[in-house]
Amino acid sequence: MRVAVFSSKPYDVTFLTAANRARGHDLLFLEPRLALTVTRVPAYSPHAVAEHTIALILALNRKVHRAWARIREGNFSLDGLLGFDLVGRTAGVVGTGKIGAAVARILTGFGCRVLAFDPVPSPECLALGTSYVPLPDLLAASDIVSLHCPLTPETRYLLDGAALARMKPGAMLINTGRGALVDTKAVIEALKAGQLGHLGLDVYEEEAALFFEDRSWRILQDDVFARLLTFPNVIVTGHQGFFTAEALTAIADTTLQAVTEFEQGRIPTTAIRA
Ligand SMILES: NC(=O)c1ccc[n+]([C@@H]2O[C@H](COP(=O)([O-])OP(=O)(O)OC[C@H]3O[C@@H](n4cnc5c(N)ncnc54)[C@H](O)[C@@H]3O)[C@@H](O)[C@H]2O)c1
Repeated sequence: MRVAVFSSKPYDVTFLTAANRARGHDLLFLEPRLALTVTRVPAYSPHAVAEHTIALILALNRKVHRAWARIREGNFSLDGLLGFDLVGRTAGVVGTGKIGAAVARILTGFGCRVLAFDPVPSPECLALGTSYVPLPDLLAASDIVSLHCPLTPETRYLLDGAALARMKPGAMLINTGRGALVDTKAVIEALKAGQLGHLGLDVYEEEAALFFEDRSWRILQDDVFARLLTFPNVIVTGHQGFFTAEALTAIADTTLQAVTEFEQGRIPTTAIRA
């Protein structure tokens, strides 16, 4: 393989060349440091993910996925399709940044009482009338819990077996944040026990091996994911929350703006600084 070795010192040349004798790679030694500029897209459309969150809530509540399949089979029975009014229900939003605040705004519009947990309360949510409470209180009081905090060592498995046990029996859990915010195996046990009434996922902790590709002809190897798909009260989408024309336009604009700034010799506004 052709390999460029940046920041090469004489001892790098000596030892890498010696180690390469038996391997035969094509090493190119360069003295300059590699200066890569890495940029990111910090925000695009929080509405895209927020609205997908609402789509999951409504579809699970009114069993749209089941009704759609039934009607195609000529089954017009309503048995098993009973939902509940969102007005007057309590929704818990975990993480009220850009996306969580948009979710809180929409749910407030539905007439829900919105509770939130976030170390940094959002002025917009406070103005909406959102009440900030400790996470255990949010879990105990909410009919719907929706996760919108980042995945960090602190939030990994935020919804583990103990947290799921604190939720209202039969409540709905929605995760459009990051897969590992929930312990999927514990979620499956909670679904089997009926403790969790509905589950909507746009993200999955092992999604890297599954999502964004057509795998319809391949044998599914992930038994945990396969078990999730057997529940009638679970909807999984493949990380499509961001996937709206508006969000993709914003992502493309921000990306090319960074390229233009770099070309002009400026540090892009969206550069990640070391
Ligand atoms: N499904 C998708 O397509 C998709 C797309 C974009 C982002 N996301 C996910 O949505 C998350 C939220 O995105 P955002 O743009 O709103 O981010 P953001 O940075 O605007 O908001 C994150 C919020 O979480 C809060 N927070 C941090 N630690 C917390 C904790 N331990 N408990 C509760 N709240 C905590 C922060 O204070 C902040 O208010 C992202 O981290 C990402 O994982 C998903």
